[in-house]
Formats: sequence, C-alpha cells, structure tokens
Amino acid sequence: MRFSPWSQHSALETSALITFLFPLFSCSHSTPTTGYSSGLGLGRRATSKEIICSWDRPQSVLFRDTIFLDGGTLTWQITGEDGKTETNSKPRQQLYYLNLTSAFSLADDGKTAIQSTAKPDTNMGTNFKNGFMLANNYQFIIYGGYMEYLDKDPSVGPTWSLARDIVQNGETPLQNPPKYRTLTLEKVTRYIAAGGSVNVPSENKAYVFSGATGKDWGEFYTTAGAPENATATYNSTNLISVDMSTMGSEKWDNRTIPSGIPARKNAEVVWLPVGSQGTLVVIGGALNRDSVRFRTDITDEQKTMGQSFVDNVHLYDIANDKWYTQQTSGDKPPATSEFCTVYAPSQDGKSFQIYAYGGWEDFSSIPTNSNPPSANVYVLSLPAFKWIKVYEDKDSTHGRKGHRCHKVADNLMMVVGGAVVSNGICINEGVVRMFNMNTLKWEDKYDPAVHDAYKVPDVVYKAIGGT
Ligand SMILES: *[C@@H]1O[C@H](CO)[C@@H](O)[C@H](O)[C@H]1NC(C)=O
Ligand SMILES: *[C@@H]1O[C@H](CO)[C@@H](O)[C@H](O)[C@H]1NC(C)=O
Ligand SMILES: *[C@@H]1O[C@H](CO)[C@@H](O)[C@H](O)[C@H]1NC(C)=O
Ligand SMILES: *[C@@H]1O[C@H](CO)[C@@H](O)[C@H](O)[C@H]1NC(C)=O
Repeated sequence: MRFSPWSQHSALETSALITFLFPLFSCSHSTPTTGYSSGLGLGRRATSKEIICSWDRPQSVLFRDTIFLDGGTLTWQITGEDGKTETNSKPRQQLYYLNLTSAFSLADDGKTAIQSTAKPDTNMGTNFKNGFMLANNYQFIIYGGYMEYLDKDPSVGPTWSLARDIVQNGETPLQNPPKYRTLTLEKVTRYIAAGGSVNVPSENKAYVFSGATGKDWGEFYTTAGAPENATATYNSTNLISVDMSTMGSEKWDNRTIPSGIPARKNAEVVWLPVGSQGTLVVIGGALNRDSVRFRTDITDEQKTMGQSFVDNVHLYDIANDKWYTQQTSGDKPPATSEFCTVYAPSQDGKSFQIYAYGGWEDFSSIPTNSNPPSANVYVLSLPAFKWIKVYEDKDSTHGRKGHRCHKVADNLMMVVGGAVVSNGICINEGVVRMFNMNTLKWEDKYDPAVHDAYKVPDVVYKAIGGT
C-alpha cells in the first residue's frame, strides 16, 4: 500500500503543514495476520457468574491476531448463589487476551470473550495502572504505570521493565511457554504513567508522549498510603521511544518536548504513515488529577486548558525531529482525555480519518464537577484538520473513559475496557464493543470473516469536501 503525499490535497495548501511535505512513504504495516497460532498455552474463560464490571486504564496491545490486556483497575461483578452481587478489584496476576481468530457475540458474550493466562508469581506479576504495552510484531514490553504503595518492591527498581517475547524474527513461535524477561532501561526510568502511547510495529518502534512522573523522574505510587513526596504530580516533558528491531537489545531514547507543545496526561497519540519515519499526531489530554493528589497550585487557566488540546493538535515529524501545531475546525468535541483513537486512510491515500471514542474532560479538581464520560464518536480528518461528530449518544450513563481501542480490520474499531466515574458502577454495553467505521454503527457480533475495505463515510466526505 502506498500513500500519496499530502501536497496533492488542496486543504494543505493553506496549512502550516506545507513545511513538511514528506517523501512517499511505503507502508508495510498490516492488519492482523489471519490464521496466526501462537501456542501460548493460555487459560480458560471466566465463569458466567463473574463478569467484568469495569476496567479503568489497562495497558493493551493488538498483537497480530490477539489483543492482550494487562493491569489497570479491573473490577469484577460477582453474583452469588443467592443472586446478590458484589464487586471486587483485587488484581489476579493474569494476562488477559481477546482471540480475534474466532467469532464472538458482543451483545452479551463480549463480557466473557476475554480469556486469561497466569502471570508469574514473582515481581513479573506486578499490577501497573495506566502504563504502557509497547510492541512490535514479535514482543511486547510492559513499561511504566502506577504501582500501589502496598506493592512497593525494591526489586522493581527505577530501570525495571518487563518484556514478553512471543515470536522470533523468522516467524518461529517461541516455545512453550513464551518467557517473560525483565529488561534494564537506558536513558529513562519506569516512573512514567498516563502518557499518550502508540505502537508502530511496521517500524519496530513505540512512543510515549508526556504523562505524569515523580520529582526529578523519581518514584511514585497511586495515592493510597503513599507519602506526599511519592506521587506523580510532575509533568513529563519527554517523548520516550523504544526501538525493538533486535529482540533482547531494545534501544530506549528520550527527547525533550519543546515548551510550545504543552505537557499533559492521558492524551491520545496516533502514528500516521507520512514522512520517512511517520508522523505522530497528539490529540486531547488534561492537566490535573489521574491517581495523584490534586495539585493545589493548579490555576483556573490550567483547569480549562484541555479544550486547547482539541482546538489545536500537535504533530511530530519523527525523521526530522520537528514539532508542529495545527488548528482544527468543525464540530469539535469538548475537552477530552482518557479516550481512545484509531485511524483509517482513505482508499486514494489523500486523507486520514482519526476516530476518537469516549473519554471525559477531567480537568476539574473535584471529580463530581466533571461531566460524565462521553459515548460519542468523532472523526478528525487530516489534512483538513476538521472534526466531524459521527455518532452521538445522549444517554449520559452510556459513556466510558479509560478504555483502549484497536483497529482489527480495515473498517472495524474494537474497544476494550473502560469505566465510569464512580467505583463499583459497571460500564454499560459491555467491556468489549466494536464500531464499524464505514457504517458508523456499533456491531453486535465480531466475526473474523466479516469486514470490509475502509470507505470514507458520506458524512465525513461531505464535511471535508472530497476525499
Ligand atoms: C486463538 O484461537 C485459535 C483457534 O481457535 C487458536 O488456534 C489460537 O491458538 C488462539 N490464540 C491464542 C493466542 O490463544
Ligand atoms: C534522557 O536521556 C538523557 C541522556 O541522554 C538523561 O540524562 C536524562 O535523564 C533522560 N531523561 C529522562 C526523563 O529519563
Ligand atoms: C520522601 O521522603 C522520605 C523522608 O524524607 C525519603 O526517605 C524518601 O526517599 C522520599 N521519597 C521520594 C520519592 O523522594
Ligand atoms: C505541566 O504542564 C502545563 C502545560 O501543559 C503547565 O501549565 C504546568 O505548569 C505544568 N505543571 C508543572 C507542575 O510543571
């Protein structure tokens, strides 16, 4: 698949992006390989008496034909023999996964389509929240995130991270069971959470934009029981990257984000195949909160800064190490963080549609002052940089935040996880959902045999005046 340079698009002529018209970029990334069998030796389904009630900010990755999920705050709703229900969020040291090689119902089974396998009963089983699962097509790395203060473990030091190698270069599945491996970080610490992350398997790269960290990149925990000086009340002003070209000798790097590109938490980052190494697009995010004590020094201006992260998106041309700010227009969403995104290119390669689902404002210092999470889907179309609301759900109980989404076929966005504001209240409409980016409807069944080529929906086509 080849993408045309954006210079052919009229909207670009007036755009600041004219300054980085990229050479043709050949796109080698692909949708999941069908028929992939990993021999992972995985576990069994959850019983029907236990359903996933909510799952706030897990780490997740689309790895070939499987979506792996780890960590976060996973709350189960358990129904007893007497019909009474209770919820439980205690971590179970499992790696969860959704097998995309067979069909499942989303209307109901979506809640039980998620399977799991035990993680090691060592520090490798530590539960992290709002961290990152960085991956190429051979391995994933669990990096960063919040740890509970009660789980404080000196063996999980500042440069500790965890890799799981699954397929060797050369396509040989690693033999039973694929091993977890601790790795030692270079140039970065693991004290980063709530950044915007994106995996670029075609380039063997992954990125983490901004997020929360401790003082001087030092240790932090979730607030429960943690001393005042060990919470993540500082901004990361770094773009962290890892190069996974050689399994076992991953190369870490960090770059300072220029001050004109505002630091924040829980932004979404999309990688587009534009430019010789691609371009990152940073959307949304917020300044306050996120498993930390509320900062008392946050200004009114900072509290409402989230809207500016929707009004202006930031782009990073990776090869040239250059940042750009681009104003957006159209039917914009309100300030949004803890949402999820995927992108789809038009068939002629002239535009990219970034689909953004759910999320909430999260700038208020008092949780109940925030609007409930959204259930809407927006498209940000590039290079027009125009927002189009493509799905509206006015029922405020349908929203979710802290979920993840992955493009599982050209036209399908699979959503996993999510939570509402209050603990103990289950998300509506299942922990797994799937949005059809062609028809702009939620599907009630996933079937690996049923998908289409992506076509820019009419409503988007009309709004951007062409492809
Ligand atoms: C997914 O299911 C297929 C077919 O049922 C099986 O061959 C494969 O091993 C499974 N993959 C995982 C990761 O469990
Ligand atoms: C980034 O890398 C430099 C070395 O290149 C190191 O001195 C610095 O501490 C790193 N920053 C972070 C945030 O880890
Ligand atoms: C917090 O303060 C305590 C007591 O002064 C100190 O022992 C500890 O190292 C500090 N922790 C951090 C993360 O700075
Ligand atoms: C975090 O970054 C924002 C800009 O996005 C800035 O306004 C704020 O002062 C920073 N906070 C700290 C503690 O440096």
